[in-house]
Amino acid sequence: MNDRKNPRDDKDLIIQGHEADGIQELDNDLPRWWVWMFVLCVVHATGYLLYYHVFNMGRLQAAEYAAEMDVGNKVKREAQQQFEASLASLKPSTDEEVLGKGRQTYETYCSPCHRLDGGGQVGPNLCDDYWIHGARFEDNLRTIIHGVPVKGMLAWKETLKPSEIYAVASYIQGFPGTMPPNPKPPENEQQPEKPNEFE
Ligand code: HEC
Repeated sequence: MNDRKNPRDDKDLIIQGHEADGIQELDNDLPRWWVWMFVLCVVHATGYLLYYHVFNMGRLQAAEYAAEMDVGNKVKREAQQQFEASLASLKPSTDEEVLGKGRQTYETYCSPCHRLDGGGQVGPNLCDDYWIHGARFEDNLRTIIHGVPVKGMLAWKETLKPSEIYAVASYIQGFPGTMPPNPKPPENEQQPEKPNEFE
């Protein structure tokens, strides 16, 4: 121990009348660094309050979030527009990797309605030569992008990226010609004679 005397013996240091269960409180000075930190906090808080809440010069978290979302949505919209403008020139992919991704997307999102084997259930059979919305690759892409909301087919551009739509549309090109058991009966005239309704 050092030779400082026990503060308990210093009557001046003890805050009188502040005793509970025999515990007394000492009136120590706060360390300087602590006091300075406290002062800095108050200065900072005052500046913060004025900057963000009084003069509204800074963007709060919610506004920053909205601004970033706007930027993201713009990028997304542009990519979608570019994709939609290019549909007529697209050919189904034969790349194994793309088809594998398409299969995954199909099994996750599409099979509940079109069945794993494409035979159709809520949604039409994708394996026969009968198409409601056109038989061309472009027609399929368009149907997947815009959906047929009144019939329960979603507009997948809300959920899937252009690359995912392209992949899944390429994947379903493998269905026609396969003969799954108990297919859903044809729901419309044979294609491709039927004109594309989106044009
Ligand atoms: C909730 C059920 C449902 C889901 C999920 C669904 N579809 Fe459909 N789909 C339908 C229905 C119903 C139709 C027929 C719309 C009509 O009768 O006009 C359809 C039509 C289609 C067509 C046009 C068929 C034709 O005969 O022209 C394609 C292509 C298609 N869907 C692909 C997909 C793909 C790809 C997915 C997954 C990304 C998907 N669907 C997910 C219900 C669904």
